[in-house]
Amino acid sequence: MELCFRSLFRVSISTILLFFLVSCFSFTSTDAYDALDPNGNITIKWDVISWTPDGYVAVVTIFNFQQYRHIQAPGWTLGWTWAKKEVIWTMMGGQTTEQGDCSRFKGNIPHCCKKDPTVVDLLPGTPYNQQIANCCKGGVINSWAQDPSNAASSFQISVGAAGTTNKTVRVPKNFTLKAPGPGYTCGPAKIVKPTKFVTQDGRRVTQAMMTWNVTCTYSQFLAQKTPTCCVSLSSFYNDTIVPCPTCTCGCQNNITQPGSCVDPDSPYLASVVSDRGKTNSLAPLVQCTSHMCPIRVHWHVKLNYKDYWRVKVTITNFNYRMNYTQWNLVVQHPNFDNLTQLFSFNYKPLNPYQNINDTAMLWGVKFYNDLLMQAGPLGNVQSELLFRKDKSTFTFEKGWAFPRRIYFNGDNCVMPPPDAYPYLPNAGLRKNISLLMLSITLLLSVAFHFACV
Ligand SMILES: *[C@@H]1O[C@H](CO)[C@@H](O)[C@H](O)[C@H]1NC(C)=O
Ligand SMILES: *[C@@H]1O[C@H](CO)[C@@H](O)[C@H](O)[C@H]1NC(C)=O
Ligand SMILES: *[C@@H]1O[C@H](CO)[C@@H](O)[C@H](O)[C@H]1NC(C)=O
Ligand SMILES: *[C@@H]1O[C@H](CO)[C@@H](O)[C@H](O)[C@H]1NC(C)=O
Ligand SMILES: *[C@@H]1O[C@H](CO)[C@@H](O)[C@H](O)[C@H]1NC(C)=O
Ligand SMILES: *[C@@H]1O[C@H](CO)[C@@H](O)[C@H](O)[C@H]1NC(C)=O
Ligand SMILES: *[C@@H]1O[C@H](CO)[C@@H](O)[C@H](O)[C@H]1NC(C)=O
Ligand SMILES: *[C@@H]1O[C@H](CO)[C@@H](O)[C@H](O)[C@H]1NC(C)=O
Ligand SMILES: *[C@@H]1O[C@H](CO)[C@@H](O)[C@H](O)[C@H]1NC(C)=O
Repeated sequence: MELCFRSLFRVSISTILLFFLVSCFSFTSTDAYDALDPNGNITIKWDVISWTPDGYVAVVTIFNFQQYRHIQAPGWTLGWTWAKKEVIWTMMGGQTTEQGDCSRFKGNIPHCCKKDPTVVDLLPGTPYNQQIANCCKGGVINSWAQDPSNAASSFQISVGAAGTTNKTVRVPKNFTLKAPGPGYTCGPAKIVKPTKFVTQDGRRVTQAMMTWNVTCTYSQFLAQKTPTCCVSLSSFYNDTIVPCPTCTCGCQNNITQPGSCVDPDSPYLASVVSDRGKTNSLAPLVQCTSHMCPIRVHWHVKLNYKDYWRVKVTITNFNYRMNYTQWNLVVQHPNFDNLTQLFSFNYKPLNPYQNINDTAMLWGVKFYNDLLMQAGPLGNVQSELLFRKDKSTFTFEKGWAFPRRIYFNGDNCVMPPPDAYPYLPNAGLRKNISLLMLSITLLLSVAFHFACV
């Protein structure tokens, strides 16, 4: 009830806040699932393709069924626990990170004897005789929307000391995607209908001896990441550039953490950046800014035509230690249902709820701007979006022209507080509320009221 009153109160204060309230309600309802990609998951499929005297040979494929979350370098790391005393005799297209204790074997030594093996992909350039289809990309897997043909990764594994029929095999347990890391939770392996394979000439269908699937899902809540991205705003109708909120991703702290960031004019820049081989190259090394984020997305409302309006989006990389390959952006704005033209980015509408298509995924054009280079003069990509005005909703007032939500590579980008948005000269927050806005507000207040009672 208290929440209700608060809601009602806000509704009557300003329509801006209403937008955010509504988007909050519809986008953070549950933690363990992503409202923008409700069916997104990573599926790990094991196909037993043959039995051996003491076990089986399986092809393991990791499918990334997530619309916009990809696995970037240094790639996936998959762990599991064997149900019995299985060993891995050999592997193709992948390897375990540790062999473990194989001292009980004489002569033929297994590839791995650990109870809980950890597997990684091989690197590009692996000799052909160690490859299988879909392997050897350094563990990088693209997202489903961006490039379904590169959204899977496979390796082959020969398992010993295992069951040798579909009755005696025990499926491995406790699957874990150790990388990309926290945030992914994998369910138990489930035995499913054996996969059917069609031969290359399409004239014959073969079938796995046995197949099991594991499904892993991502939760932003479990990932508990500090923000890595922020949004700044500007417009043609107001000189103010609203910067990213200060300390979004960290604070410049010269006393307790000297060197937490690098000044672009610093004479030490070159040596610090080239040091990456020796230090932990995964920790970002960011350029000193007030927000300290590795990534900033700038949304500039650029032009106003009679029937159209135009936005310029710039993504800037402040991280000296990262070239973002296959980066993507998810943007929510009510005018995306009338996006007319988009320059130099790829685009796909994401319609988690069929009737509202206000969310779009944007990503770079292959070989042109699909690589967002490390911090520096080349560390940015940009695009312009042309929207057709829908006369019933379009307005420059109350921050309507700014995005409601932005994700970079699946991570939420922190927006400035709504009351700081650039606004139209002489357009006070409460003045000029059009009749439409007023009636929407009223309707929604009534709706809220009923929902709460
Ligand atoms: C995983 O994603 C695929 C593709 O979207 C979907 O068909 C499948 O049902 C999902 N699996 C689960 C367990 O949600
Ligand atoms: C095992 O194989 C037999 C015959 O090949 C089949 O009928 C049975 O359904 C299989 N069981 C499982 C669990 O796959
Ligand atoms: C499952 O795997 C994780 C990570 O490898 C490990 O920390 C945990 O102890 C394992 N749990 C069981 C029950 O084996
Ligand atoms: C198992 O995974 C494969 C590949 O993702 C999928 O085609 C198949 O439908 C899944 N089976 C079940 C029962 O989920
Ligand atoms: C940290 O140092 C930089 C340059 O050395 C300076 O501009 C900045 O104000 C300092 N920040 C704090 C919080 O002291
Ligand atoms: C990014 O790519 C450029 C050009 O390929 C390369 O010189 C640079 O070392 C790369 N930086 C990182 C951090 O990988
Ligand atoms: C909106 O969604 C529909 C149906 O998914 C799609 O055909 C249409 O292209 C989308 N419109 C825009 C502007 O993205
Ligand atoms: C914008 O898109 C909506 C939904 O697709 C459609 O009903 C409306 O007519 C479009 N407006 C314009 C001006 O094209
Ligand atoms: C521009 O927007 C800011 C709010 O971000 C506001 O303080 C300022 O008064 C606006 N400028 C004009 C000329 O209205």
